[in-house]
Order: sequence, then structure tokens, then C-alpha cells
Amino acid sequence: MRRIAISVAASTMTLSLAGCGVLNATGDGASASPTKGNDITVGLLLPEKANTRYDKFDYPIIRDKVAELTKKQGKVQYANADASAARQSEQMQNMIDAKADVILVDAVDSHAIADEVKKAKDAGIPVIAYDRLAEGPIDAYISFDNELVGEVQGRSLLEALGPNVDTSDKVVMVNGSPTDPNAKQFKEGALSELNGKVDIADSFDTPDWKPENAEAFMAKAIAQIGKSNIAGVYAANDGMAGGVLKALKAAGVTELPPITGQDAELDAVQRVVSGEQYMSVYKSYPDEAEAAAQMAVTKIQGKGIQFDALTQDRVDSPTLKDIPSKLVQVSALTKHTVKDTVVADGIYGIDDICTAKYKAACAAIGLK
Ligand code: GAL
Repeated sequence: MRRIAISVAASTMTLSLAGCGVLNATGDGASASPTKGNDITVGLLLPEKANTRYDKFDYPIIRDKVAELTKKQGKVQYANADASAARQSEQMQNMIDAKADVILVDAVDSHAIADEVKKAKDAGIPVIAYDRLAEGPIDAYISFDNELVGEVQGRSLLEALGPNVDTSDKVVMVNGSPTDPNAKQFKEGALSELNGKVDIADSFDTPDWKPENAEAFMAKAIAQIGKSNIAGVYAANDGMAGGVLKALKAAGVTELPPITGQDAELDAVQRVVSGEQYMSVYKSYPDEAEAAAQMAVTKIQGKGIQFDALTQDRVDSPTLKDIPSKLVQVSALTKHTVKDTVVADGIYGIDDICTAKYKAACAAIGLK
């Protein structure tokens, strides 16, 4: 059963139009902050640096979109917590003290951040959970369909194992951080595909999503299961897929099992091209980040109709029900889809991917 409830767009739309739109253009009553113009500050809290997406895509895309929506008058104040929940709480407190107009928070620890979310709310600052579902009284949530991410990973792994896949085939699961609610959804989505089809020989929730933690766990799993007995590895993201690969190589594995990933990081895309990693998940960062910027700006500017139109889905967190949300779709990135995903969307040029080391592999799959 999917945990996310997606409501019917049409009925929500009717309600919101009648409830707050036309007659009250400043927003949705009690929870609305005073309407602002273009001179606004959006606080942006991102969780870590090990994964390249945050500094490379999320932050600059949100910064540029806010500028575009505010005739270059709006600012984004950005802080990265470097995987420390304590640091992120301080950063959020600083933004509350500095009276940010709205805060977008991608939580290191979705539970631990709830106190700060409450403080922001008490200070009249709307909070939008970005990518990870922060607990506490948030105003809205924008993310990808994270259970779908796990399903795509699980299905791809089965596809790589082939039609003769058997319940005795041993799969190792290297899941994401236990403080990240997405990691749980990725794992559940993957298990919904893998359960009953393969043998989950070992499974680990990796602290802080750190590639070196994934590598250390994988080294132990190889020693326990035997280096030629591993049929496939579910790695929840690309950084950790890199750690898994290092451990396999260090153990002297020459025929690599299929390894999954997520995020379409450049070195992972290159590994997919060369065949060292079976797949990644392509998440369109522009789709997520631009929608987040729009949600933040329309929320502060009191554009209730636009805000409602952007947040037609409904999601429950452990502390709040029916959160106005937007969930963006994802797709598998394999050798066959590199061109139609990251290249088509202008995330990477063919020159970025097909460097000297990967020229031959690129040519072999017609990437030119
Ligand atoms: C998840 C996020 C992924 C990946 C991972 C590790 O919450 O959705 O895209 O970045 O964290 O940082």
C-alpha cells in the first residue's frame, strides 16, 4: 500500500477557489503571512555536500528562479548543514532571527528539525519542506515520488538479473540514512519489487548517506556472503554505489554484479556508460527546484490561487495530515536512456560524459 495519498485535483481546486482565491487574493486566511512585494528573502537549508546535487543544482536553480520571479529583487540566503542535524537547527534559527520571509528546508533529520519548524511558524515565517518531509507545522512539501524511486530501482535490478532470477539469488541492500524519511520510502519501494523474487542476504541503513560508510558495510557483507555469491547490489544513491564498487574491487571481484543508484551524478552516469553501474535514477532537479521557488514566492506574495495550483497533492507526515504537496515523477537512467534524460534536459553535455576515458564506451552505445 502506498503511504502517500494523492487527492483528486479537481475537487481541491474547486474548494480552494471558493475558499480563498478570488475574493481574498492575499492567501488562505489564518496561515497566511502578510503579503510582500518582490523585495523578499527566501531561506534555503540543504542537508549535505557529499552528494553533488545540492550545491550544483538545487541551490543555483532555486536562486535563479527566485530572482526571475521577483524581477531580480528577491534573494536566497543559503546554508548547507554538511550532514549535521545540530548545525542545521542553528542555521534555521539564524534565519528565523534574521526574519527570513519564508524558509525552504531539506532536513538532515526530519524529526529533529520539528522544533525549529515550530519556532519559525510562531515567528510568522512559513516553512516549506524541500525534498525530505520535515516534521512539525510545515505549510507545504515539494519532492519527487520517492516510493516510485525505490520501485524503479527494484525493477531495474530485477531486469538486470534477467528472466532466470531465482529466490536463491543473493542481493545486498545498502539503504540511505535512517534520519531521512525518503530513505525509508526508497527501501519500501524497492522491497515491493524484490520481496519474494530474490534473497535479501544483508541490508544496512547507512548513517548520513556517506559513501565511506557504504563501502565499509559492503566490505563486511562480501566477507560474510562470499565474493562470488552476490548476484546484485541495491545501493540507494550514486555516492554509495561508488563506495560499493570500491569495496567489490578491493575484494578482487572482477565480474561485477549489477549495482543500482540514484541522482544521476556525473561520475555515476559515466559508470553507467562503461557498465560498472547498472542504473541510476534521473530526477529532474529543475522541475523540483523551480516549483519550490514558485511555491516560496507565491506563498509570501499571498498568491493563494497559484500556490494552491502548485500544491495539488496531499501527503501525511508523522505530525501533520493533508499537507499541500507536489510530487515530481522520476525515471530510470540506464545505458539506453542517458541521451533521453540527462543529455536531453541539458544537465550534462555529451562532452562532460564522454571524456577520453569513456570515449570508446560512449561510442559503443551510440552516445555522440
Ligand atoms: C535523499 C534525496 C536524494 C539523495 C539523498 C542523499 O533525500 O532525495 O536525491 O540526495 O537524499 O543525499
